[in-house]
Amino acid sequence: MMDPNALNHDVIQAAGIDQEEIAALFQKWTDRSMQGVDYSLLSPAPYVALNDPVRMKAQSLGEQAIRDGRVAAFTVAGGQGTRLGYDGPKGEFPATPVQQKPLFQLFAEKIRAAEALYNTRIYWLIMTSLQNDAPTQQFFASHDFFGLRESQVRFFTQGQMPAVDAQTGNILMSESGQVAMSPDGHGGSLRALVRSGSVDFLRNNGVDTLSYFQVDNPLVQSIDPTFIGLHLLNKAEISSKMVRKAYSGEKVGHFCLREDGRQSVVEYSDLPHELQEKIDPETGELYFIAGSIAIHLLDIDFVARVGGGVDTELALPFHFAHKKVPYTDSSGKHVVPDEPNAVKFEMFIFDALPLAKQSLIVETSREDEFSPIKNATGVDSSESSKSDQSAQARRWLEAAGEALTGLERVEVSPLFACTEEAFVERWNSLAEKPVIKEDLYIQP
Ligand code: UTP
Repeated sequence: MMDPNALNHDVIQAAGIDQEEIAALFQKWTDRSMQGVDYSLLSPAPYVALNDPVRMKAQSLGEQAIRDGRVAAFTVAGGQGTRLGYDGPKGEFPATPVQQKPLFQLFAEKIRAAEALYNTRIYWLIMTSLQNDAPTQQFFASHDFFGLRESQVRFFTQGQMPAVDAQTGNILMSESGQVAMSPDGHGGSLRALVRSGSVDFLRNNGVDTLSYFQVDNPLVQSIDPTFIGLHLLNKAEISSKMVRKAYSGEKVGHFCLREDGRQSVVEYSDLPHELQEKIDPETGELYFIAGSIAIHLLDIDFVARVGGGVDTELALPFHFAHKKVPYTDSSGKHVVPDEPNAVKFEMFIFDALPLAKQSLIVETSREDEFSPIKNATGVDSSESSKSDQSAQARRWLEAAGEALTGLERVEVSPLFACTEEAFVERWNSLAEKPVIKEDLYIQP
């Protein structure tokens, strides 16, 4: 009988996997408890506060950049969405409180609204994975690209990494006899942007700034002129939005300043408990208060440098996830593990921060910009996000002077307004206002 391991070897080679790289990564994973990072050398990263007057100046600069066609939207949508457990790409998930619009439709409408406002064209790049690329493209085609032109939406797939056995480091085989592969993390977007030709495409079309957001946050301002203006004013290569942490143990990354003066994001699982709890005696608030919400601006030349793979010093590191991965064992038996059995390797976009010569962190308000759909129920679920979306719309109505009684769910089409200011102006100019009732959809 043929040795199954010999067979695996052929399959691994055919999959083009760099086995030395995988072995070195596994070694790092097994050694990880020995890595001595001195977290006491970190201090909080500075940020542009919500009330900073520089924002006014930045806004008009950002608006001009959008008008000039220098900004493209970029959604990372290659994740597996295992926590949500939705059967299909997450962007198809019905996310809004009244109309149940899919996330992709919502973002498409935000982009169309910005195009109309600034009388420009905005390209939209969407990173998928090999697993969800076909259904994602199919979804757009069957919905006429949600009113966008097909030529302005550009899909590309991210890279993959093999999963290895957590005990032995052996590369795992899937049921179909292939290597068990999974997407290489949202940080894989940088090399995928380069490899897919998207960087060249953007440069050829006059785009120098990418507005990066995740597929799961309906509140995101997909195109935010003030953020863009601040990024350009500061000549930043990467800019990031932050919110004030809601409580010390909140599971978000922390914006920190390293000893070498570079900014970085330290994950909640890495920052020692006492530092997460530490209070700043001057403000009485958390010392590491700036939480990362995965909204960034990326300079195209920076993407080309980091994603190009020419300079290994600039490559994003891999993180390790201990997960349950079904596999076929050496006797050919298919095993579905009950406990985490495998290590997966992923890159994270925020690891690009310390690689930048210049980076910027900008405060935003959580209630206006961050309510992700991660879980099926509870915290960060579709229910909590829909409730936050309704709450935002209620605030806008109140700001427009409406008394709200009997209003449960309310949704504002991005094609009506994308910000409170725009909403108030538009609402007050309506000759006939919609009746406020339990379920209210304010349409364009
Ligand atoms: P998450 O960290 O929430 O991961 O991704 P996920 O895979 O979507 O969900 P879980 O952890 O399995 O429940 C944050 C964002 O990064 C994208 C996701 O699509 C989401 O927009 N992402 C994540 C990628 O594009 N590729 C990846 O390999 C991982």
